[in-house]
Amino acid sequence: MVKICCIGAGYVGGPTMAVIALKCPDIEVVVVDISEPRIAGWNSDRLPIYEPGLDDVVRQCRGRNLSFSTEVHRHVSDADIVFVSVNTPTKTCGLGAGKAADLTYWESAARMIADVSVSDKIVVEKSTVPVKTAEAIEKILSHNTHRRSHGVRYQILSNPEFLAEGTAVADLLSPDRVLIGGRTDTPAGLAAVAALRDVYARWVPPDRILTTNLWSAELSKLAANAFLAQRISSVNAISALCEATGADVAEVAHSVGKDARIGPRFLSASVGFGGSCFQKDILNLVYICECYGLPEVASYWREVIRINDYQKGRFVNRVVASMFNTVAGKKVAVLGFAFKKDTGDTRETPAIDVCKGLLGDKAAVSIYDPQVAGEQVARDLAMNKFDWDHPRHLQPIIITGTDVARQVAVAADAYEAAAEAHAVCILTEWDEFRGLDYKRMFDAMHKPAFIFDGRNVVDVAKLREIGFVVYSIGKPLDEWLKDMPAVA
Ligand code: NAD
Ligand code: UDX
Repeated sequence: MVKICCIGAGYVGGPTMAVIALKCPDIEVVVVDISEPRIAGWNSDRLPIYEPGLDDVVRQCRGRNLSFSTEVHRHVSDADIVFVSVNTPTKTCGLGAGKAADLTYWESAARMIADVSVSDKIVVEKSTVPVKTAEAIEKILSHNTHRRSHGVRYQILSNPEFLAEGTAVADLLSPDRVLIGGRTDTPAGLAAVAALRDVYARWVPPDRILTTNLWSAELSKLAANAFLAQRISSVNAISALCEATGADVAEVAHSVGKDARIGPRFLSASVGFGGSCFQKDILNLVYICECYGLPEVASYWREVIRINDYQKGRFVNRVVASMFNTVAGKKVAVLGFAFKKDTGDTRETPAIDVCKGLLGDKAAVSIYDPQVAGEQVARDLAMNKFDWDHPRHLQPIIITGTDVARQVAVAADAYEAAAEAHAVCILTEWDEFRGLDYKRMFDAMHKPAFIFDGRNVVDVAKLREIGFVVYSIGKPLDEWLKDMPAVA
């Protein structure tokens, strides 16, 4: 029986291994992590991450050929294939701070593999890493001098993950492609690629399993995220021009996306993209370009992040400017805090920057999200940029007595959040926000009552009929907003 061990039981490691276990009953899959609460969560009825369909997959396999453990050394030592799916955040200090990938967790996982291995292993990069990381890992593994592991041979593969949160299980069950990079110029490298291909081939059609050299696979992941994020920044840049001219961004995106060469997906204007990957991976790409002496290429990709920051700032300015240039002491309801619908993940969510902007202008913010707990909101608003993905910062943060504690409340539903509010900001496109009783909300709000829709989920005409002043990203502005220009 082939044994797979995955280091890192996070948003990628957990769902990916659960689907491998589901599709390969003859393979034993163990997911290990240094975080005891995370592993306890995976072994409980309340999984540590919310992902549609995941409970069902885990329930089918856990105790059969899928297990979760903190016994990292034992399971790594026993495995034939070791996936490394640890976090690779942005560096917060030192060389490359604010851009480069922090490979601390990666390196410690690699050193641990070298320390405990007594049999040959295929080591699979599942984390998103800088190009040439496989070379560094090879060095760590081959220079290991541990007596027990003398003579152990390693093959490094790059097998980046393309799942998106909120649709992780569906993406894993039916991926657009599985990418496997390896030392395809050597027989041992080819054999390792074939071994991993055999795992995916149980459910992924052969034409969707791509094999490349190591560096192409590593770079393809960064490039794919950069291209996706670039589409959002492109449509968001156009949304600003739509507001200035009276064009409607939804109509423009629809017309543009009808061109088969462009395609309709990933063209929804928004308050900005969030999530743990896009910003981090583009910054990493920017840093790599700078390191290779390509400043023009670096600044080209950096602009995708700049537009995203501009879009978040523009939204806050619009809110404040529309409300007579001050939100001090006014209650503002925030509907949605997760970075997208169908996840409870708040990493790099645009809601953090928007809420911080409103708090900076002294608003009283009341937040409702169906999947995000109050404690998480408080932690996010009290944290510095980039700190969220560094485990030492995962301790509970005491915020009593701070501005955040005084100015932020977490509501049990959208109506509670909106009661007595001057404005509602929609920051996540949860389906339930489309069907809310907006008349009920309007009646409970101060007048004039504002709605700022950062996700284009509301029916603008209907809300205007109720009496709201409505702002929707990239949509023609109503008279009120035209009279209150938002100057950056
Ligand atoms: P995560 O933070 O949810 O999970 C990482 C886990 O690794 C944590 O539970 C942490 O405790 C554990 N860990 C860290 N060091 C360890 C060690 N030495 N030994 C054992 N466990 C260790 O991160 P994630 O979202 O699953 O992302 C993992 C990687 O996958 C990142 O490189 C990310 O860029 C990439 N990725 C993420 C997504 C996504 O949607 N989240 C998609 C594709 C790729
Ligand atoms: C992304 C990539 O899609 C995935 O392939 C990769 O493996 C990890 O990074 P994820 O961040 O989970 O996945 O979600 P995604 O659906 O890409 O959304 C990212 C952000 O972009 C969200 O904040 C989302 O709301 C926003 N978005 C997406 C838009 O603003 N407009 C769109 O049209 C699409």
